[in-house]
Amino acid sequence: MNKVKIKNIYISKINLIKKYNQSYFDNNTSLVSDEEYDNLKKEILKLEKNYTFLNSKDSPSKSVGFKPSKNFQKSVHKIPMLSLGNVFSEEDLINFEKKIINYLAIKNGLEIFYSAEPKIDGISASLTYKNGKFYKGLSRGDGKEGEDITENLKTIKDIPKKILNKDFPEEIDIRGEVFIQNSDFKILNEKFANPRNAASGSLRQKNPEETKKIPLKFIAYTFGYEKGLMANNQSDFLKKLNKWGFKTNPMNKLISGVKNLMANYHEIEKKRPYIDFDIDGIVYKVNDFVMQKRLGNIANAPRWAVAHKFSSNKAVSKILDIEIQIGRTGALTPVAKIKPINIGGVIVSNATLHNEDEINRKDIRIGDTAVIERAGDVIPHILSIDKQKRLKNSKKFIFPKNCPSCGSKTIKEFNKVTKKVDAVRRCSSEGYYCDKISIEKLKHFVSKEAFNIDGFGKKIVENFWELKLIKFPQDIFKLNYERIEKLEGWGKLSVQNLKYSINQKKKITLDRFIYSLGIRHIGLENAKLLSKHYITFSKFKNLSMQNDYEDLVNIDGIGETQVNSIKNFFSNETNINILNELEKILAIKDALQNSDDGILKNKTFLVTGKLSGVSRAEIKSLIEENSGKTISSVSKKLNFLIIGDKPTKRKVDYAKELKIKIIDQSEFLKMLNKTS
Ligand code: IVH
Repeated sequence: MNKVKIKNIYISKINLIKKYNQSYFDNNTSLVSDEEYDNLKKEILKLEKNYTFLNSKDSPSKSVGFKPSKNFQKSVHKIPMLSLGNVFSEEDLINFEKKIINYLAIKNGLEIFYSAEPKIDGISASLTYKNGKFYKGLSRGDGKEGEDITENLKTIKDIPKKILNKDFPEEIDIRGEVFIQNSDFKILNEKFANPRNAASGSLRQKNPEETKKIPLKFIAYTFGYEKGLMANNQSDFLKKLNKWGFKTNPMNKLISGVKNLMANYHEIEKKRPYIDFDIDGIVYKVNDFVMQKRLGNIANAPRWAVAHKFSSNKAVSKILDIEIQIGRTGALTPVAKIKPINIGGVIVSNATLHNEDEINRKDIRIGDTAVIERAGDVIPHILSIDKQKRLKNSKKFIFPKNCPSCGSKTIKEFNKVTKKVDAVRRCSSEGYYCDKISIEKLKHFVSKEAFNIDGFGKKIVENFWELKLIKFPQDIFKLNYERIEKLEGWGKLSVQNLKYSINQKKKITLDRFIYSLGIRHIGLENAKLLSKHYITFSKFKNLSMQNDYEDLVNIDGIGETQVNSIKNFFSNETNINILNELEKILAIKDALQNSDDGILKNKTFLVTGKLSGVSRAEIKSLIEENSGKTISSVSKKLNFLIIGDKPTKRKVDYAKELKIKIIDQSEFLKMLNKTS
């Protein structure tokens, strides 16, 4: 049989299993007997084993999750369900702790205790209890809004339905992981690739009776909204969870010091194959709740917790080709196309090569045999090259000097801040000149953290672009729906849904809007800072007219790199045109100002010198929470100069000259009715 024929057979089998899965998950109907289903699955796996070029994202060999079913109502989490940052090494872990020490301005010697909790690889859920009664249960969803899966969660024995303890809070969201034990999974003979999928699939059954048949377990580990919780730290909270009837992980430990965290990590990694549920790392949480609160969150992950992932899986394969992908910011990323290989249960056919320097440093060439590493959900990368196996006629890989998409020159920029030449080579075109960059910008525009248009994924962006239905962001709001309805794969209903999702997103907050523009170096955090500073869209847009970029420097957290990038953005006519067009279509909501009647209302502050027991970042948050403002230089606009240890003499002298009030840390804290 030739390759095409085999592929066709494979695809028809994949389509069939996809149909069965959809019916099973969305309509709770099995279209075939279990035996027939299992045979089909076996046939697909056999084909993949014999012909390694076969690869489909819908294959049962892939551990993909299932799309949220349409069967459930959505509901907002009172407090968002955050995700966690990752660390992979001792060095990463040292840095994690350093950041905490700096943020909290902890003096030498004070130990930070962490609750070290093995990270179960299941499905997280949030259970709301009111007056001791299990009231509502939500899936994580996008972190802000989840699916109401109360009835299914009620079938889980580990979830208490009524809690009578006196110290149980009046209201609380108990959060934890729903999972299946490996031993239970083995005897399930169900249609799932792994225990995680089985847990996810069964939680999303339309009929709770079906969920009941699967032995789901629940382990509790944190809380969301609470009213009346009496616990000072995570380890106390875990103990209370037990007392209230929840299961917690028996391997949770209270540990201080990176060395001890590493020892615990290695110990648990060794035990990993013998534990009856899948864990993919260890979560470390700063134990003390006061510290947690002070540390707060960055974007959608807490500063006070991190996941230490277990080491990866490795495999050897051949580099078939090196492709250059072009990103939203013009960065050229080389990607190795490798002979598909199974690494820890996932078929890998791409590995990132990071950038030009990386290729040169490792002298990576097409045809080379390489060790490929896959760690967690991170994109696989090349660890090393086996030069012994290198073909005689192999040639050094020459990185393109022109953009493969638009032909513009590619450049390596000089970073004025680090005073180094960038490792990344970029397409030098601006705005929407380069097609590939434009497509990536549009993908970013509709993405989850930006406009978050339901059902408008990357594939649709590519497809609509090819068909010339979209070129600029504003085109998304002026789609020719009649034409789309006639396209293959579309119908009246799906077009109606798309139209609805797009129209719904015409209202947007300023920070999301700024982020969606995809200005280089302006990620979520910086977009928030800009939105907080400018409050209204028109003030933000005016930046370009007044050429008043100096004001930007006053925003704490925005540096020279960001200012240059914003300048660059506004100097491009296409970008200005896009802003004007979008302004006509959208309702951009003003940023919420911090309650502007706080104790520090209309007061401006500047800190000079080292403070004791608090970092600059924390002082800034404190000022802003109380409606004050921080500015970055001494000027007539300044009301208070807060001086710490070894202040800058120039600043103090100038402040005296301008008759600005100079205060020390304890005077500042007194203003807030806090004592140091
Ligand atoms: S705490 C803000 N604790 O890991 C803290 N999460 O990447 C976030 N997880 O969605 C959650 N075990 O599904 C926490 N002991 C544990 C956990 C844990 C597993 C999962 C959870 C979450 C993901 C974060």
